[in-house]
Amino acid sequence: MSQTQTSLYERLGRREGIERITRSILKNHLANPLIKTRYENSKDLARVERRVVEFFCAGAGGPETYTGSDMRATHRGMNVSEQEFVTVIDDVLAALEENGVDPPTRNEVLAILWSLKNEVIRV
Ligand code: HEM
Repeated sequence: MSQTQTSLYERLGRREGIERITRSILKNHLANPLIKTRYENSKDLARVERRVVEFFCAGAGGPETYTGSDMRATHRGMNVSEQEFVTVIDDVLAALEENGVDPPTRNEVLAILWSLKNEVIRV
């Protein structure tokens, strides 16, 4: 079997693409009545955006280093619900689609996010 597929990082448009996708994700969250207050209450949304870009890049196989805390520590005490988790993932999938990411690549991101479920919900 040959390994000719490009990395997830490449298919998301490298850092530039991931920055665009992350802007769309935050725009979607801030417009989403189910979760917007979570983000409106953040003390530093610009820092959150930078960290999400790093996390996304590093998780997709890029050279970036994630400088934030792990997912359990980041979301500890927020009491995130199952509904909020699904809603965040829906916003991410919509952002990927808005930015022209193809369905197989969207599904790959979905699988990665789903695998983090127990690090985020009610931790
Ligand atoms: C797999 C799903 C998720 C991932 C990968 C993820 C990832 C992240 C990352 C990387 C940060 C930035 C951490 C930092 O600034 O140091 C963050 C912050 C945050 N997350 Fe999540 N998150 C997820 C799900 C959720 C859900 C379901 C909620 C609830 C609606 C949520 C609410 C927040 C909030 C409010 C912040 C900002 C905290 C602050 O202002 O410091 N996240 N998340």
